[in-house]
Amino acid sequence: MLTLHDITELRAHLDPQRRDGQRIALVPTMGNLHAGHLALVDAARRDADVVVATIFVNPLQFGAGEDFERYPRTLEADTQALASHGCDIVFAPSAEALYPHGLEAHTHVSVPDVSEGLCGANRPGHFNGVATVVSLLFNLVQPDAAFFGRKDYQQLTVIRKLVEDLHFPIDIVGVPTQRAEDGLALSSRNAYLSTAERQRAPALYRTLCQVRDALQGGELPAPALREGLASLTADGFKPDYLELRRAWDLGPVALDTRETILLVAAHLGTTRLIDNLPVSLP
Ligand code: PAJ
Repeated sequence: MLTLHDITELRAHLDPQRRDGQRIALVPTMGNLHAGHLALVDAARRDADVVVATIFVNPLQFGAGEDFERYPRTLEADTQALASHGCDIVFAPSAEALYPHGLEAHTHVSVPDVSEGLCGANRPGHFNGVATVVSLLFNLVQPDAAFFGRKDYQQLTVIRKLVEDLHFPIDIVGVPTQRAEDGLALSSRNAYLSTAERQRAPALYRTLCQVRDALQGGELPAPALREGLASLTADGFKPDYLELRRAWDLGPVALDTRETILLVAAHLGTTRLIDNLPVSLP
């Protein structure tokens, strides 16, 4: 496995492989890899000839006062984990390499509608930062397929629209959420939880399951969501939102919508956790 930091070197390695007709898969990450990220690498490995993982804590997608500085950076352990999962190339650029003129002066990509509301409302500019860096990585790697987790469901929806709108010839693959045994979705941010918070954290997933079961059992969304929010608050969470949206584009649920997605973001102490579950309405 090669670890590269330089754009010219990355292109020099990938160009001949692309010319040879090899299928290239991209797995973008911010590092501090856990089994959730590695499930994306495994799926990419099964799909492609060349697997490229990127590790870049993207300053453009963090808001003021968010955790950019304290975000865990563990390059050595990450490269070992990637090598053992059959990754071919790790690309870990510096911010200066990707944004040589600084963040403000850089061209931004903004994906309307799906970036608004939900996490977009609580984290202004976040999805523009994601769409910008992912466009940049798509352009540098020019993969045939790119792998994203369903755990970040709004992000996955933003990227699907980005690829459609900008006509990137890339298959976007959504990989199921990997969870700890107690149901908590794996996340690099789980490391911020205290022992007591970690014990309480699975209530987020349990609440999603309860609300999903109520909705699938025929309860109306408004009361089911109200009860879910009350239960989260009783468990010590400060919810940003608990919402039911149309699964494919996060639009509003209409009377004839069946395939929906239940999404939650909530703070536990200083840690913000997100999760989601598909719900088939009766
Ligand atoms: P990061 O949070 O490092 O996540 C990288 C990828 O791993 C994302 O596609 C995310 O959805 C996926 N992932 C994280 N936890 C997961 C889990 N428990 N199960 C399945 N997949 C999981 O998301 C980002 O980085 C960034 O926004 C990025 C796309 C790299 C752009 O900077």
